[in-house]
Amino acid sequence: MTAASGRLLSESVIQKIEVEAGKYPTRRAAVKSALRYAQAEHGWINEDVVAAVAAVLNLERIEVFEVATFYDMFYTSPVGRFPVRVCTNVSCLLRGADNIMDSLCERLEVKAGGTTADGRFTVFPAECLGACGGAPMMAVGDDYHEDLTPEGLDAILERYR
Ligand code: FES
Repeated sequence: MTAASGRLLSESVIQKIEVEAGKYPTRRAAVKSALRYAQAEHGWINEDVVAAVAAVLNLERIEVFEVATFYDMFYTSPVGRFPVRVCTNVSCLLRGADNIMDSLCERLEVKAGGTTADGRFTVFPAECLGACGGAPMMAVGDDYHEDLTPEGLDAILERYR
């Protein structure tokens, strides 16, 4: 571990990463878990977070960066306190995902990819989030909301105010 990781990641995050790394034959296998813990602490994955995770796992920065940029659940630019991911894949699309996305953006006064003026929400279109049976759906942070209707969005958003 280097000074960079010590400065940026809390001891508890480093410990969690070490536990994950111990589960696999290679430390590289723990990159996704490490990024998840680091993002939970920092809100998004910047170059310093990439460097810190790489240092803890004894990897090259590029090995961490390529994972961070591959998965859409990792944010490589600043996001609001609650990232909102609206599934726009086939099942959700067929059940009105476009309407949900439009209604959400209208209510929050943002465009897709944008963050609300109060920094609370960032709205993203997302690929299938694995809850097709509840289409249309969205995730607010780690919470899944299914069988969405435009009319029901206000009550859901209110829980995060
Ligand atoms: S298509 Fe939307 S959750 Fe699978």
